Parts: sequence; structure tokens; C-alpha cells
Amino acid sequence: PINTHHDEHGRITVGGVALADIADQYGTPSYVIDELDVRHRCRTYREIFPEAEIAYAGKALMTRALASWVSQEGLALDVCSAGELAIALSAGVDARRIIMHGNAKTPAELTAALDAGVGRIVIDSYTEIVVLGSALDHKQDVLVRVTPDIDVHGHRAVRTGVADQKFGFPIEHGQADAAIKRVLDQPHLNLIGLHCHLGSQITDAEHFGAAVHRMIAQMAQVYHDHGLILTELDLGGGHAVSYGFDDAPLDLTQLASTIEDALDEACARHRFPRPRITLEPGRAIVARSGVTVYRVVSVKHIEGGRTFVCVDGGMSDNPRVCRYAARYSVALANRHPVGAQIPVTVAGRHCESGDELAVDVSLAAEVRPGDVLAIPGTGAYHHGLASNYNSVGRPPIIAVCNGSARELIRRETIDDLLRRESSL
Ligand code: LLP
Repeated sequence: PINTHHDEHGRITVGGVALADIADQYGTPSYVIDELDVRHRCRTYREIFPEAEIAYAGKALMTRALASWVSQEGLALDVCSAGELAIALSAGVDARRIIMHGNAKTPAELTAALDAGVGRIVIDSYTEIVVLGSALDHKQDVLVRVTPDIDVHGHRAVRTGVADQKFGFPIEHGQADAAIKRVLDQPHLNLIGLHCHLGSQITDAEHFGAAVHRMIAQMAQVYHDHGLILTELDLGGGHAVSYGFDDAPLDLTQLASTIEDALDEACARHRFPRPRITLEPGRAIVARSGVTVYRVVSVKHIEGGRTFVCVDGGMSDNPRVCRYAARYSVALANRHPVGAQIPVTVAGRHCESGDELAVDVSLAAEVRPGDVLAIPGTGAYHHGLASNYNSVGRPPIIAVCNGSARELIRRETIDDLLRRESSL
């Protein structure tokens, strides 16, 4: 596990707090997030990209505390719904540093964004151009989302740079040109730049270099067609992290130099002034700062088959294994294992055989019911993707920092679930 230590009893600690104590105090499953680790990753981005705007992609993990930590560290914030916007605003985030995204922002969401005074809206459809154009009585800074047709070979569900998908306007066949022209026809839309997002878990910096080339060519085209110099280029997020196997993270220093070189070349080739770069990392800020704590409920050895360690959470708090074939490791958290390690599958509590959290991982053979397990790397897209499958309440988020723990979001209770029901 990452950023974990062991205390004198052999228990795993994060942020100076034993995970077993969190399990006792807050119950299981619980999401744990290491505040200083999140802050440190924000600072690292700012150091490696001193001239860029770093906008944390709130979809990775959004709570008021997260929004305030990243803003205190000088990051802007990318939101993609009225809910994320409301959380950001209630955390006191400066609306001018909020970027509003979404391929199907409703008129109500667009109005909420305008009322809040968000800094940028990323235009993703013709409908939006019309709705915004008629709702506005002042100038609103906007970017147009363009698809540069770069295949980053990620999982199908998160690949967004190729032309044939629902986001943005493809550069191909003049589709981006046409959308940009429509934006420029609306007097209240102030087009300041272009946006693209290539996908998620991208390990190769060259994809971002290729995006810079295509996007600068498109910006030069806008200058050619309309005499307008766009000053912002938002390259989206998608920076890969390691989940602890042989999965290499994207090297951010290399990303910085690849983007630099591509900007130098492309801007010289098109005689175009360098735009300001925006990056929107989500996963790379929070994934590795998070760990989920479970309690073992049963251990089952299948004759001639696997050993299943069944825990009190599962696909309702981590659907990423089923959905993206994601891999996680696991560790015994409440005591130091003394015996051999054996291959096990950590299975969830839900009514599907595919409800697995860690497949063919090694775990102490002595594991038994009541033990506490830690699955690291669960800071991004876990709480956000969590569900109430099997009418299970969603886990709390517990922040740890300098030896103390505090609840950012409480556990959803059966009463919460019942409260949503109308009376018979
Ligand atoms: N910007 C935009 C416009 C995005 O759509 C996304 C992610 C990001 C930034 C941040 O991407 P990141 O740096 O976190 O990769 N649920 C999936 C990931 C979906 C990503 C969606 N968009 C998962 O659990 O892997």
C-alpha cells in the first residue's frame, strides 16, 4: 500500500491513524482519504507546471473538504453538474475559478452556472450554444470542446479522444470549425480557447504532445478564418496512476516537457502565440490518497478452486472491478501477518458472482472473520460511483491528517434509505 506505515502493533496506519481504529470507530466499509497526500499532489502539479492552470476534476472525488483543500492549494476546479457546482460553491470556492463541463448540461444547470458566475463554460453541443446565447445578458467566457481524434487505447468506457463518441466537436470534416463559427455568432459568448480530453489512465505523454499539435493547428485555423487569437488551451485530464501492479503511472515531468516541446514546435509552425495551458487531473490527485477499509465476514475455501475472502462491502462501494476490469491489491490491516501468504479472491457482499474487489491477490493465510482489510488506491471514482445496490448504504469518507481522523461524509443509514420512500 501507498503512504501507509505500520504501528508498534503491526497495524497499518495512514496519516498517522490506524485503519483498524477507523474500522472500530466509524464502521466498515469506510473510505479513508489522506489530506496531506492530496495537498502534496496538488503542490507537485503546481511545481511541475508553474505556468499552467491546474483544475482538479471534481468527478474523481467531490466533497466540500476536497473542494476547499484543492482551492487552498491554488488549483481551479472542474465541475460537471449542478450538484458538483453547489458543493464547490458551498465550500467557498471562487466561482471565477470554476470550469463547467458536460455533454448534456440541462438549461437549469447552465442557468445555475451563469448565476454563480463561473469562470468558464465548456461548450459541448449546438443546443447549449442556443440556450446560453439566449439566457445571457452579459459576456460569458467559454471554451469549445474539440475532439482531436487521438486513440489512447484506454478502456472503451473512458476513451474520449476519438471522433465517434458523444463528447465535443470532431476536428474532422470541419465540424469543430462550424461549431466555433456558431459560438462566434452569439454576441454574449466570449470564446477564449479550446478544450479536449483524451481519455483516462493515459500512460504515454506523447498522446498529449499529439493533442497539442492538433489543437494549435485548430486555433491557427480560427485565427485564419475569424482573425481571433484564442489564448487558452485546456488539455483535459487522464493522467495515469499506478494501482500497485506493473501499471506504470504517467510521468508528470515528462508530460511537462512533452507539452512544452509540442507547444514550441506547433506555435512556431503555425506562427501562433503560445496559449495558456490548463490541465484537469482528477485521478492523479486523489486515487492514491485513498484506501478503503473492510471487515472480513467469512472465508471460504472451494475444494479444487479458489479461496474467497468475503467482506462487508463490494461492487456498491467499488464498481470499478466489474466495470473496467480494474485491479487492486489488498493487505491485512489490523495485525502483522506472521504466516504464509496465499492467493485469494476478495469478494464483496452483493448478489452477483462478479462482485469481486481483488482477484488472485496474495493475502496472509491466517486471515479470518473479524479481520480488517485495506484496499489502497481507492481515492478516485469510488465514492462518486458508489450505489445503493441491494439497499446497502454508501460508506462514509474519513479524512486522516497528522494522527487524527474526521468524518467528511457520514455513512448512509437504513433510515436514509427508508426516508426516500413514500408512505404506503
Ligand atoms: N476532464 C474531463 C473533461 C473529464 O471528462 C475527466 C474525466 C477528467 C478531466 C479527469 O480525468 P482523470 O484525470 O481523472 O482521468 N469512472 C472512470 C473514469 C471516468 C473519467 C471521466 N472523465 C474510472 O473510474 O476509471
